[in-house]
Amino acid sequence: MALILGIETSCDETAAAVVRDGYEVLSSSVASQIAKHAAHGGVVPELAAREHLTALTPVLDGALSEANVTLGDIDAIAVTQGPGLIPALLVGLSFAKGLALGHGIPYVGVNHFIGHIYGAFLDEANSALADPASYPLLALVVSGGHTSLMLIDSRGKATALGGTIDDAAGEALDKGAKLLGLGYPGGPVMQRTAEGGDPHRFEFPRPLTGGAGKPLAPENRWNFSFSGIKTALLYHVKHHAGEDGALPAELLKDTVASYQEAVVDVLTRKTLAAAKEFGAKTIVVAGGVACNSVLRERFEALTPSGVRLRLAARKYCTDNAAMIGGLGFHYWKKGNFSSPDIDSYARLPQITQVPFLD
Ligand code: KG4
Ligand code: ZN
Repeated sequence: MALILGIETSCDETAAAVVRDGYEVLSSSVASQIAKHAAHGGVVPELAAREHLTALTPVLDGALSEANVTLGDIDAIAVTQGPGLIPALLVGLSFAKGLALGHGIPYVGVNHFIGHIYGAFLDEANSALADPASYPLLALVVSGGHTSLMLIDSRGKATALGGTIDDAAGEALDKGAKLLGLGYPGGPVMQRTAEGGDPHRFEFPRPLTGGAGKPLAPENRWNFSFSGIKTALLYHVKHHAGEDGALPAELLKDTVASYQEAVVDVLTRKTLAAAKEFGAKTIVVAGGVACNSVLRERFEALTPSGVRLRLAARKYCTDNAAMIGGLGFHYWKKGNFSSPDIDSYARLPQITQVPFLD
């Protein structure tokens, strides 16, 4: 039995969680800074760092007391090392190092991206991860920072099939919402605004799907591109704008529904094509955008029988520390801990092996 304390500060959520044996989430405490960043229309890294600094101690205390444990009961600390915003990551990493050093607890820096995939398997005693029939497993991680497809085999060998060549899908929703004056973060507000709208009234581009008479270059087969959708929205608004420069209210719902549809259509189509191509037995959809109801329903409707679909629970889609603490268990099991001098990293490194299967 092992209790792992997870700590997450890669973006605008300060989170701590206590996870038993890699799956049982005893507590998951998240303090969102959304209100602080909303005034700026997006995340300001320095502001995020300062907010993490003040939020970390109460969030940690909350997670420990909710789990009814003390630091003395913790077997290891897992902390997000990257990718993410460096100033934000540094606060969590330094905090974790201090806790580890001060209390004599081993600690390990873990990868946030793999954490998102792992989050789809929390709360489950007999994890589907341990079942050889789950592989090959295809994961779509779709968030404000990532839109990537990763193929994982039963021994944990990982192949990054592709990712976004410009904006992430969440970023496209956030920037689209900003352009329409809907506020931040864009994903949830776009989803709400789109409700009841006609998703087929306007045709937004579906980049890198091989449509519109443009053949798809082989190197982009599993890549994504979302900046063109955002530019198309800009022209759409210019074209339909009233005298005040804004979109008439009558068009807003259908515009947002059509925009969201373009994002959902690209994500599902490319993921399902990759699943077919590589004979995936499981499709995992994780990351903040995986909260989106239209995306979830589309995957549910289109995933072929014979392929298991795992949509991460909504509470584990957006940034949280339970996914970090759960993943940390697998390092604890092998005694793989980090040295005190590790540094945070901003970009996704090349991943060839996931740590929860080898
Ligand atoms: O995973 P996450 O919390 O942070 C990153 O690692 O980036 O994802 C945040 C992203 C934001 O872009 C936000 O707009 C999007 O997830 N998001 C959504 C929804 N809820 C959050 N996108 C679409 N629909 C939602 N319901
Ligand atoms: Zn994330």
